[in-house]
Amino acid sequence: MALIYVTRHIPDIGINLLRAAGHTVDVSIKNGVLTPEELKKALSQKPYDAVVTLLTDTVNKEVFDTVPTAKIFANYAVGYNNISLPDAVAAQVTITNTPGVLTDTVAEFTIALMLALTKRIPESEVFLRAGKYAGWAPELFLGSDLKGKTLGILGAGRIGYEVARRAHFGFDMNIMYNDIQQLPVLEKDLGATFVATIEEVLRNADVVSIHVPLLPETTHLLNAERLALMKPSAYLINTSRGPVIDEDALVEALKSGLIKGAGLDVFEHEPALASGLRELSNVVITPHIASASEETRNKMSEIVARDVLDFLNGEVPEHTVQA
Ligand code: GLV
Ligand code: GLV
Repeated sequence: MALIYVTRHIPDIGINLLRAAGHTVDVSIKNGVLTPEELKKALSQKPYDAVVTLLTDTVNKEVFDTVPTAKIFANYAVGYNNISLPDAVAAQVTITNTPGVLTDTVAEFTIALMLALTKRIPESEVFLRAGKYAGWAPELFLGSDLKGKTLGILGAGRIGYEVARRAHFGFDMNIMYNDIQQLPVLEKDLGATFVATIEEVLRNADVVSIHVPLLPETTHLLNAERLALMKPSAYLINTSRGPVIDEDALVEALKSGLIKGAGLDVFEHEPALASGLRELSNVVITPHIASASEETRNKMSEIVARDVLDFLNGEVPEHTVQA
């Protein structure tokens, strides 16, 4: 029977599946992210056969070397930028992630951020809770409508597609997108327009929503120069990964009115926020919870467990990441 380490408590369903299969599962008892030293210490306690990691764990050669017996690391996230794939290949470690099950939840959350921002819901709620509401007024908290506006999608994978579909059919938005490839299904299903450059999306969209993975080539994809191309009336939404935006440049753009607002669930240096961001009223900020529905987090737990079980049974796990 195998020894499995889980770097932080995840919903029980997956842990129970692993235990029901007869395996020993050790779950970190720290109610927090393990530091790199703590992670290595934990993994060197026993000859683990499998490890379940989180997006907050940095996994590289040093970690693989600490536990050479573990030939599968199952990442409890769709994004796996926290794992060095070249190091995994060199150490002959299989990496899995949790795609698909969180697509709808993240798409719903992205739409929620878009609505909260354009309708100024958090900002007006703070005002009301502070006792400042003195009665209905014709120009109190004027927001923006989405109908007939253009949603620009950067990265039209599963999540980008589902955001676009909801925006198009739910809110009558026009869809424009940029991706490394043209995706005819977006044109066919949503009447979307493919544009060959990010710049063209930025110049034309009323709302820009980011759905690219974090890679060296997407780091600071939105820098000062590109933010300056956006309309002053435009909003930026990010539920992908923080470092895709140069957050200091974004704060400047928001302060100077270069763009109208931003809805952010992810940050460049989580859990820290760029200086000045928290004080801005034209942002809606949430603590990386776009996939945090009970249903989805349970499914993610089940997926990491099933992938680990498949691997331990000598099969190729369904959600193996291709290096
Ligand atoms: C969350 O950010 C994930 O990648 O699952
Ligand atoms: C992630 O699941 C994506 O493809 O957008």
